[in-house]
Amino acid sequence: MTWTSFAPHILALLLVAVPVAVVDASVTCLTVGSSATATWTNSAGQTCSFTGVVGSNYGTNSAGGEYSCNGRCGAGCSGAALGNAYTQDCFTHDICSYFENASGGASDANCGAAFEAAEDDFLLGVVDGCGQTNPSNSAVAPSTSPACS
Ligand SMILES: *[C@@H]1O[C@H](CO)[C@@H](O)[C@H](O)[C@H]1NC(C)=O
Repeated sequence: MTWTSFAPHILALLLVAVPVAVVDASVTCLTVGSSATATWTNSAGQTCSFTGVVGSNYGTNSAGGEYSCNGRCGAGCSGAALGNAYTQDCFTHDICSYFENASGGASDANCGAAFEAAEDDFLLGVVDGCGQTNPSNSAVAPSTSPACS
């Protein structure tokens, strides 16, 4: 195939890939049992951060969300997902959502950006080598809250 016949295909690929890439085209794997820090911007424009354990089980929050496998791409340990990928962006979204009582995915005022950043992790996490075995921790609500400033 010559370059001129191939170029339109490259262009088509770029057009498909760019909307995903604009948000956050990166997948960083996390290890179950390790410590990780979630950082997000809340609806008041403050930067919030919270350090917790990957795969921790916070149970449910007041918004009815299920947080039994924090960091897993997908709800809790068993919500619909493409395998069991644990990534930084999925951890950030879980932690943000737990504390901010998030709902509505990308439209949530506090955690919508974190949701969008986790979309490529959700799709590609296992392909990118972030798949692990789910832990089976009992539910323990966190004793500390995020720091926001
Ligand atoms: C989430 O809900 C809990 C329980 O109703 C409440 O204490 C907490 O302040 C809420 N968090 C936010 C960020 O609104």
